[in-house]
Amino acid sequence: MQIFLDTADVSEISSRLEAGLVDGVTTNPSLIVKAGADIFEAITQICALVDGPISAEVVATQAEGMIEEGKKLRAIADNVVVKLPLTAQGLIACRALSDEGIPTNVTLCFSVNQALLAAKAGATFVSPFVGRIEDMGGDGIGLLEDIRRVYDHYGYMTQILAASLRSMAHVEAAAMVGCDAATIPPQIFDGLVKHPLTDKGLEAFLNDWAKTGRNGLK
Ligand code: E4P
Repeated sequence: MQIFLDTADVSEISSRLEAGLVDGVTTNPSLIVKAGADIFEAITQICALVDGPISAEVVATQAEGMIEEGKKLRAIADNVVVKLPLTAQGLIACRALSDEGIPTNVTLCFSVNQALLAAKAGATFVSPFVGRIEDMGGDGIGLLEDIRRVYDHYGYMTQILAASLRSMAHVEAAAMVGCDAATIPPQIFDGLVKHPLTDKGLEAFLNDWAKTGRNGLK
């Protein structure tokens, strides 16, 4: 499963690249505002830091404007993925950009029907919003599972990008149901490596090793 960081904050990204675990980045207008960044500057910097797909979202609401903005964002770098809302106009823009070979991420997906349409419009990624579905008392992981089943059944190539993930359990579940990618807030990303038994086990190993009197492996 590809791991994307869900942030527009360049410092949050650059400090997490060393182990080569980050395959891409997703942003949205709210994350750009939260980072206090200019969208063009932020996307330029992020694209230079990370080779993989970097989602940058349009803010126009009509297809024509979305296509224009999408091309402007795509001109920043070859790894920009144009993020479009899952609306009728967004799907028109998705089809037009896809036909020109521009990768797209259709976002704000809350149902199987919407995901089906995104795939038919040629989306590269579809982003189902797990956390926001759960906020409404729905089954976000169930939606991921259902979309996986439908895409596999018809052989759609659109990649399922689990979004709006709020916990490590969400990430685990996204992987278990076979999502192609998950976009993860930096703090949750940091938690993925942690397990109390790893810490406890390592402490015991090191304590035992200290009894040998050796300094490391010297
Ligand atoms: C990423 O593509 C989405 O915009 C993001 O995951 C939404 O997360 P939120 O529901 O926590 O705002």
